[in-house]
Amino acid sequence: MNVDQFAVVDYLSKALNGTVEKEQIIKLLEIPKHASLGDYAFPCFQLAKVLRKSPTLIAKDLEGEHESFERIEANGPYVNFFFQKEKASGQIIQTVLEEGSQYGSLDIGKNETIVLDMSSPNIAKPFSMGHLRSTVIGNSLSNIVEKCGYRAVKINYIGDWGTQFGKLIVAYKKWGSEENVRKAPIQELFKLYVQFHDEAENDKSLNEQARETFLKLEQGDDEITALWKWFREESLSEFEKIYDLLGVAFDSYNGESYYNDKMQAIITKLEEKELLVKSDGADVVEVDGLPPCLIRKSDGATLYATRDLTAALDRYETYHFAKALYVVGYEQSVHFTQVFNVLDQLGYEWAKELTHVPFGLILKDGTKMSTRKGKVVLLEEVLKQSIELAKQNINEKNPDLPNKEEVATQVGVGAIIFHDLKNDRKNSIEFSLDDMLRIEGETGPYVQYTHARACSLLTKAGVDVTASTEQGVEDEEGWEVAKLISQFPSVIERSFSYYDPSQIGKYVLDLSQAFNKYYGKVKILEENEGKIARLTLVKAVTIVLKEGLRLLGVQAPEAM
Ligand code: ARG
Repeated sequence: MNVDQFAVVDYLSKALNGTVEKEQIIKLLEIPKHASLGDYAFPCFQLAKVLRKSPTLIAKDLEGEHESFERIEANGPYVNFFFQKEKASGQIIQTVLEEGSQYGSLDIGKNETIVLDMSSPNIAKPFSMGHLRSTVIGNSLSNIVEKCGYRAVKINYIGDWGTQFGKLIVAYKKWGSEENVRKAPIQELFKLYVQFHDEAENDKSLNEQARETFLKLEQGDDEITALWKWFREESLSEFEKIYDLLGVAFDSYNGESYYNDKMQAIITKLEEKELLVKSDGADVVEVDGLPPCLIRKSDGATLYATRDLTAALDRYETYHFAKALYVVGYEQSVHFTQVFNVLDQLGYEWAKELTHVPFGLILKDGTKMSTRKGKVVLLEEVLKQSIELAKQNINEKNPDLPNKEEVATQVGVGAIIFHDLKNDRKNSIEFSLDDMLRIEGETGPYVQYTHARACSLLTKAGVDVTASTEQGVEDEEGWEVAKLISQFPSVIERSFSYYDPSQIGKYVLDLSQAFNKYYGKVKILEENEGKIARLTLVKAVTIVLKEGLRLLGVQAPEAM
């Protein structure tokens, strides 16, 4: 519940003599589009049946007085609540200053665990834009679920197993060199992989060799295993550079290879339940309304789905999760529906707690950004470019800033993360560094800049505003800011229930706009009796913006 809802709910519950549950009242409350209709509106339509009166009459009866409100008046079938601005904003500010970064924390999770399957790039392949989205959405969701009282476990399910490694090793032995791989591991390995596909079009024996090589890998052949391990390490250390820049860390790197020798258990269970059927020599499980889920090929090789089934089971046994989220693009919707369905058929209660959290593509000039055929967009380069642009900006606008390098990284990286998270994850988004880095408009730097501006106001004022005086603000602009601040908890709750960080992204944009309007209209530092109250509001803004950005995985420098 938002801080300022207490008084409304309290008033209505008493006025209705307890005939309507508080929970129900909260659900019905609306925030009117126009300030002329009050700060909250309570619609009376639903009560008409219970109370055997017309909604308009009910609304009229609910008019009254309360110390928190300037007025409570009926408007047709609605009751509109107008806060006593000074008092209400004082309470809101006080709550935020007291709770600090804890403000907005919820206790939905009761310390239960949510497992997030996220990032999960494939070794020997470039880190794609899709993996970037999975990483930043997953990271933000993990912050959000923790804010809601859950324990988050971030799993990087590395794609480090499968027949493609047979191809890669064959290609390396034929055309590759140790030196080249050491120089630029991912680029070189990817080049070899592409070359394999080109050559295999004319030379049919290559695929056969790849199959045999992968079989050797599965059987633990020393030479092949050593090569695979080396490719894996080189790739992971490249990925690590990206994670460092993004400020993302994981609790587990158990990827597909980790499950290589653990798959028999699930296959046995499927056999026991008589769910495995033969189809063209392969073992599959039928799935209602979808193609069957492939478990084992005719040559005995297991598949992507087999490993995901095994991983889900292992994760449940390890973490006893309340929920497991798979942050993976839409392209894999069918795969996850199949996997969840098979686990359900196996009778696992927890199968219904598995959720695919999909997202759209990243587009460049309207088409999918692709990593295929050598047209590689190297993410590390993109991040560095963004940091470089941020640095140029700082050099122009604030050349004396002490920790320039650090701030440039926070802004450059923050811009990319924010650009992703301000959009509903289900939409595709257009990639444009220029757009991301703009200080005006709906960008990360804009929110960071607003936060820094508020911080510098506080420094300039030079007074201690750590303790609130419970005094509030009276002007319209300040009140709008306070009202937005009071909505932070419900924004967090919404972003959790939709698994959608953009609720928070949009919210910090709104709050920034409202604050900048306040800053433009009201003389905050003017020496008069409202000064301390205005500054405590500014302080509250810094707390909420910083925490909002933190939930998105974006840093909030105090000067920029
Ligand atoms: N490595 C896969 C890919 O890049 C994504 C893995 C997603 N997670 C999973 N549990 N299947 O397409």
